[in-house]
Amino acid sequence: MPETSYAPSALDRSATFYVAGHRGLVGSAIWRRLEDEGFSNLVGRASSELDLKDRGAVFDFFAAEKPRYVALAAAKVGGILANNTYPVDFLSENLRIQTNVMDAALEHGVERLLFLGSSCIYPKLAPQPLKEEYLLTGHLEPTNDAYAIAKIAGILQVQAVRRQYGLPWISAMPTNLYGPGDNFSSTGSHVLPALIRRYEEARLSGAESVTNWGTGSPLREFLHVDDMAKACLYLLENYDGPEQVNVGVGTDVTIKELAQTVADAVGYQGAIEWDTTKPDGTPRKLMDVSKLTALGWKASIGLDEGIRRTVEWFREHQDDFRK
Ligand SMILES: NC(=O)c1ccc[n+]([C@@H]2O[C@H](COP(=O)([O-])OP(=O)(O)OC[C@H]3O[C@@H](n4cnc5c(N)ncnc54)[C@H](OP(=O)(O)O)[C@@H]3O)[C@@H](O)[C@H]2O)c1
Repeated sequence: MPETSYAPSALDRSATFYVAGHRGLVGSAIWRRLEDEGFSNLVGRASSELDLKDRGAVFDFFAAEKPRYVALAAAKVGGILANNTYPVDFLSENLRIQTNVMDAALEHGVERLLFLGSSCIYPKLAPQPLKEEYLLTGHLEPTNDAYAIAKIAGILQVQAVRRQYGLPWISAMPTNLYGPGDNFSSTGSHVLPALIRRYEEARLSGAESVTNWGTGSPLREFLHVDDMAKACLYLLENYDGPEQVNVGVGTDVTIKELAQTVADAVGYQGAIEWDTTKPDGTPRKLMDVSKLTALGWKASIGLDEGIRRTVEWFREHQDDFRK
């Protein structure tokens, strides 16, 4: 079994670096981070310019650009409602996007590739906090099993390329992310951007109360996307191994605390109510980040500050945020 002989080190700032999904929440943050770090040959394409589901177009793109490094942050992503309503889209589109990109990257011998999984693809009933080794040890959360199977296939593809070709590709497993460029749509968004939009609209309309789903007691972990982007580059420069690496903060908050923090950040002063007839979801989802900590990285943006910055971004982008 060929193991990679790669010794992680600083990436070449002048090499061609392709950020797939560079206009998305994670991809745009990676792009900003790489620019700040002096990378001078970044390549990105909007889905309207290059549909990554189109295998021929993806191979043509790799033949023309010949990237040396790839961050694969393009995916069909959505909240629980979208995942539950359109499972075949989440399965099929993600399989095609990631397989096309990784097959083309393999054909062109891409030296370092980072694939992104997600904390939501660990087994539904895995012990908390979630360790890397729990992947594939139990049944998935049924509402996003199609998405999870696609993502797990991506992690396996990275491992298989390492085994078969010895290329030092890696995978990261982010927790819930938030920040500038997030998806604030009423049907497709995750909990934090949904709360920001809901409380900002309530503040503007002078609503006396806002009702959220559930009891507010579930615990969730949130990482600012700028920290995520830092971690991505850190892993590319400091980690080589087949196992995906959890990326999170290692602490969590209740949804109730989160709602209060968001309300405070936007200046909403009405009541916060809970519709306890609505489902809560998994009681707790927290990453074990000891592997990443041992590698020498930890998050630096606190939740209060991160939410404040995201609210500012949201207010400045009233005309062009993702609705
Ligand atoms: N957001 C989170 O909380 C979170 C948590 C854990 C893991 N992740 C992972 O991080 C990755 C990125 O997520 P994100 O939150 O940044 O998602 P996002 O904001 O929705 O961005 C996804 C990007 O993928 C691109 N894309 C989608 N379909 C495409 C296609 N057919 N062809 C070309 N490009 C396509 C989109 O490009 P256009 O904008 O040009 O259409 C978009 O910019 C995903 O793998 C996701 O699983 C995210």
